Amino acid sequence: MTQSESNFETFYKKAVELVGRMTLEEKAGLTSGLDFWHTKGVERLDVEPVMVTDGPHGLRKARTDSAEMGLENSVPATCFPTAATLGSTWDPELLERVGVALGEETAANDVAVLLGPGVNMKRSPLCGRNFEYFSEDPLVAGEASTALINGIQSQGVGTSLKHFAANSQETDRLRVDELIDERTLREIYLPAFERAVRKAQPWTVMCSYNKINGVYASENPWLLTQVLRDDWGYQGMVVSDWGAVSERVPGLRAGLDLEMPASGGVTDAQIVEAVRTGELDESVLDQAAVRVLTVILRGHATLDAPDCISEYDVDAHHALAREAAAAGTVLLRNEVGADEIPALPLSTDSFSAETPLVLVGEFARTPRYQGAGSSQIVPTQLDNALEALQQQLGTAAVKFCPGYQLAEAQGKSGQELPPEELRAQAVDAARGQTAVLLVGLPQISESEGYDRTTMAIPAEQVELIHEVSAVATRTVVVLVGGSAMDVAQWHEEVDALAVAWLGGQAGGAAIADVLLGLEAPTGHLAESLPLALEHLPAQLNFPGIHSQVIYGEGVFIGYRGLDAMGQSVAYPFGHGLTYTDFALENLQISAVGGETIQAKSLVSASDSAGQDDVVATVRATLRNVGARAGSQVVQLYLGRSEDSAVARAPRELRAFTKVTLEAGESQKLEFSVTQRDLSYWDAVSQAWVVESGEYEISLGFSSRDLRQQTLVSVVAPAVIYPLSWESTYAEWLDHPLGGTLLRTEEPKFVKGMEADQSTYEIMRHIPMNRLAVFPGVGFGHDRLRELLAKSAK
Ligand code: BGC
Repeated sequence: MTQSESNFETFYKKAVELVGRMTLEEKAGLTSGLDFWHTKGVERLDVEPVMVTDGPHGLRKARTDSAEMGLENSVPATCFPTAATLGSTWDPELLERVGVALGEETAANDVAVLLGPGVNMKRSPLCGRNFEYFSEDPLVAGEASTALINGIQSQGVGTSLKHFAANSQETDRLRVDELIDERTLREIYLPAFERAVRKAQPWTVMCSYNKINGVYASENPWLLTQVLRDDWGYQGMVVSDWGAVSERVPGLRAGLDLEMPASGGVTDAQIVEAVRTGELDESVLDQAAVRVLTVILRGHATLDAPDCISEYDVDAHHALAREAAAAGTVLLRNEVGADEIPALPLSTDSFSAETPLVLVGEFARTPRYQGAGSSQIVPTQLDNALEALQQQLGTAAVKFCPGYQLAEAQGKSGQELPPEELRAQAVDAARGQTAVLLVGLPQISESEGYDRTTMAIPAEQVELIHEVSAVATRTVVVLVGGSAMDVAQWHEEVDALAVAWLGGQAGGAAIADVLLGLEAPTGHLAESLPLALEHLPAQLNFPGIHSQVIYGEGVFIGYRGLDAMGQSVAYPFGHGLTYTDFALENLQISAVGGETIQAKSLVSASDSAGQDDVVATVRATLRNVGARAGSQVVQLYLGRSEDSAVARAPRELRAFTKVTLEAGESQKLEFSVTQRDLSYWDAVSQAWVVESGEYEISLGFSSRDLRQQTLVSVVAPAVIYPLSWESTYAEWLDHPLGGTLLRTEEPKFVKGMEADQSTYEIMRHIPMNRLAVFPGVGFGHDRLRELLAKSAK
């Protein structure tokens, strides 16, 4: 048992004992909040409330009246990079350190639970809240959230893994019904939650606002109990998203323990009444009260301890935020000039008052560093790229031009000028010089609560890029924004392009670090940059109509869809350059126990040990073949190389590692391929299924830059589906007993079915309950029942 498990056990037992002494009203009271940010307590038993607060990339603790939402009225806290940046680091070790810092700030502010991280999948680049999520891929999001949770919880405070589940858009989020088949849920929308639950046991899980297949997440027993607890072994508490409760009693029964914020006692009374009338079993309430109380007791154990942290190192956290922002910056393009030197990094000594670095873009002075909504932090300090570059190069060596208007910069010098003039000023300054442009999404275009309507950045900014790149000797563009942006119209005109996402309070300084090569950009895309929105199959059903969205694309989101449709992309998932080059050599695969990979055919959703069974080991060597130290993210993709029983993406990310090497250095890498990695979710068997046949294993530096590939054979026993009243003739023949039974016991029927090839081709698809009564060949329904019974033996 780990320390945190034993800690959980201790408080859980104490909670059971205390709940045993509570009245019905006290127990019901515990299952809803006291106000916006506190749980209730039970004074009679000396149980004090605890505070929970946003999240996810910093602490938004309301400064004064806790009954107010106060988005901008919170105590200063380090605004770490948003999840869009953190996800692009592909660096769990770094994220765990960020988690530790977040945990310290949470405890120092007397808060028991930080409401994050968010691991919803980026189904569409337009989701207004993508900046709060890590990736379009469940493995990347699962690893990132696991690391953050482990870091935060190591400080004795809790997290809230959110928004469970399928909260893939903001449009109509409080009532939209997400219609998703079970395979897609199990393979795409749930695994990031599953990984974090299994590997980090977050203290709380926050259910989402939306419905899934007709049932609100907040009242969904399949989601909150069967999947979360029975399949994944979750022990903690489920809290509603703020205002996600529709019907409280069914919610409690489904597994929603705590309703937030306060309900003014209304739903507590409903619960009491339901227990009194026998509509709700009191043990269901007891269980929820125990789970809520466990969180409260764990919180107090940390926060009331004499050695509980009361201050944190503000500067050290700022420095960590800067490190993480640089690590999550993705260098997409870096062309070599006529001088054979790549555009980046900029050389620090080539700028002066006579030949300045021309820094264009209001974002350099007025940084966009976080998204809008509940995650909005009041930062402890705020860097901007302009000052950071001036500090490094000298004020006179940086010529700043705002370049475009920005609503959030109103009143700053130059912003009063019309767009054409701002642009002309920048173009004049950039002529014959090196220009760095900061462009991207203005604050209003992305937020919690609504979605974007286009992937484009503002047209004036695009025009600015065209005009500046036409006259500058070198043009470097840095994109800021929390989600995939359209670069197709202009990226080939510029010499270098990096995306910094929303990099938190030190993001501006991190941009300077990366441009000047003080830090290498080591991020990789955790979301594809398509050439056009309509290349993504999900866009056909986004954001739905009449409060319904059909996830018609199934598992084909992000690179899975782009690869399956053979679409060219601007920059593929997993892509990221740095200031050195790498080679990957010596791919070797060893199957556990022989030549071919031996797998089981079926593993249940709750058998995590069976799913984690290692079936093969993949080895390779990574070599830094460039002239300076650097990091590379090596990605392992797996694909089925022949027809599958289900539609599969050509390849899916199954493992990755970020490696830092000195120039010339090499390192041996080893990855495990597990039973689950080979599987698809089969809704009929309700299990993870492996098919026999050939699979392709690839190692590379992006989903489209595969450096080493090989085919492997997998052997797994065939899945036997029991025959039913409606099974077809072909299904009977494929069944291990069915075919023999028909051939030996009903040879005349078989002869009729297979009279000639074309008869057979038609007949084989017909259910046996119809064939059994076909005139001339049929043997009747009673006989079919007998054969069915025999086939089941
Ligand atoms: C958001 C959650 C947040 C909560 C509390 C909701 O609107 O969806 O992510 O934690 O508010 O602020």
